Amino acid sequence: MARITAGVTTSHVPAIGAALDHGKSGDDYWKPVFDGYEWTKKWIARERPDVVVLVFNDHATSFSLEMIPTFAIGCADSFAPADEGFGPRPVPRVQGHSDLAWHLAESLIRDEFDITIMNKLDVDHGLTVPMSLMFGQPEAWPVKVIPVAVNVVQFPPPTGNRCYALGEAIRRAVLAYDEDLDVQVWGTGGMSHQLQGPRAGLINAEFDAAFLDRLTADPEALRKLPHIEYLREAGSEGIEMVMWLIMRGALGEDVKELYRFYHVPASNTAVGHLVLEPAQ
Ligand code: DHB
Ligand code: FE
Repeated sequence: MARITAGVTTSHVPAIGAALDHGKSGDDYWKPVFDGYEWTKKWIARERPDVVVLVFNDHATSFSLEMIPTFAIGCADSFAPADEGFGPRPVPRVQGHSDLAWHLAESLIRDEFDITIMNKLDVDHGLTVPMSLMFGQPEAWPVKVIPVAVNVVQFPPPTGNRCYALGEAIRRAVLAYDEDLDVQVWGTGGMSHQLQGPRAGLINAEFDAAFLDRLTADPEALRKLPHIEYLREAGSEGIEMVMWLIMRGALGEDVKELYRFYHVPASNTAVGHLVLEPAQ
């Protein structure tokens, strides 16, 4: 049977991908960011998950304002890195797991989560930057990836509570999959950041620290946090953090925090990163 072995959260700042692609990861500005992922890179090389269910958001790259699914799942055999205006990032194509993805789609929809099925999806920095942070610059990515895209770009995004419940449904679906697979669930985006308007550049380290604590220890309260609190406390793009609750819902009630990293500055965003393991 398939198992959920761990959960990971991380920010997905596009400039991190650009720094790596242009050989700047050792620069004074970027080195502390990449150093913060060294522990995880060693850990994941030992863990060797078979599949990552990678929860991310498209930034009006593959989706546009003409079509905005709240939740979508990538069922294709592979996914190309998207051209976000400067050509696609020089990273490997992402290999999917079509059979498990279709199983998830069927299980979720029968579980009353009406997720959109994507048979083609180019993946932007929301997905490729977390891959680079976790795996560096390999010839081919060492895991299969099932992209789960969440609308956090056009109001109204799904509630944290709904995201958490989707995570619980993903857990049920994975555990019912009849193949021996180690599956990780990643939640990406965040932490506090605002890219526009008078509050552009907003960082709220106190809110972010409490969010990290509560995600591990008190998700039942955190899942009720209303949108307005994300916007007020973590900025307009801080709403990306609802995606972390999908990961948390997929891990089950009790988790152990294996690793935490928090760093400012990285472009306009507070970088936050957690590695969680379901309690035995
Ligand atoms: C930045 C962060 C993001 O999450 C994003 O999608 C785009 C830009 C930034 O900090 O520059
Ligand atoms: Fe983003």
